[in-house]
Amino acid sequence: MSNFIVLLGPPGAGKGTQAETISEKLHLPHISSGDIFRQNLKNQTQLGLLAAGFINKGELVPDEITIAMIRDRLSQPDCQNGAILDGFPRTPAQAEALSIMLSSINGKVKSVSYISVPENVLIDRLPGRWTCRKAGHVFHEKYSPPQTTGVCDFDGSELYQRDDDNPETVKVRIRVYLEQTLSLIEYYHQHDVLAEVDGTKSIEQVTRNLLATIQRNGNE
Ligand code: AP5
Repeated sequence: MSNFIVLLGPPGAGKGTQAETISEKLHLPHISSGDIFRQNLKNQTQLGLLAAGFINKGELVPDEITIAMIRDRLSQPDCQNGAILDGFPRTPAQAEALSIMLSSINGKVKSVSYISVPENVLIDRLPGRWTCRKAGHVFHEKYSPPQTTGVCDFDGSELYQRDDDNPETVKVRIRVYLEQTLSLIEYYHQHDVLAEVDGTKSIEQVTRNLLATIQRNGNE
């Protein structure tokens, strides 16, 4: 049975930051729905251009498109032992679809970590995020600065600010999260796999707490 770990939380909670580290520690691939959309946009694929219309407004890409994209990604050989899912699922329909997908590949959601961060902290955080063009490594000008301003520590590529991190779009993303994703907390709570982690602690402390939570769920 392969084990999948879901990271849930509002925009800017730290899902991508944590997924990158946990993926290395647990030797599982990091699958970010947002990164796959952005990669498709960079390559100007039909999927990328379609998704951009929603992403730039802060809205969710329709379930049908997102589910098909993740189904395709999960069918790849590197997912046979599981994966860290960052940003998917984010609607009840996506959560149901994930459960069906995983049962067909002898997998299950082993652990869902809800990284909680209040809205005022998210609004403060997101304008300071810088992302690397080549591989999507994430930095923050105050909380996790690169060694050289504007340059990725890992691959030397240029750092940029996401279009959807402007204050107006951030407000829409938070509202969409509250309306469409928050209900997943109850959904996974009922499935007995949910644990909440305080995302206002330092990045390193959040990692330690997440790993402890994932470990605990694995032993139950
Ligand atoms: P996506 O890219 O998934 O965006 P998001 O969910 O809004 O989350 P973010 O990437 O903004 O934040 P994060 O939680 O990963 O935080 P990060 O680690 O970067 O999705 C983008 C768009 O794609 C969506 O709006 C939607 O349109 C579409 N989409 C994606 N998935 C979809 C789906 N399943 N269905 C439909 N549509 C979908 O951290 C943020 C910053 O804070 C960084 O600078 C970081 O360095 C810093 N930081 C992190 N942790 C801490 C900490 N503990 N203390 C201080 N700073 C911290």
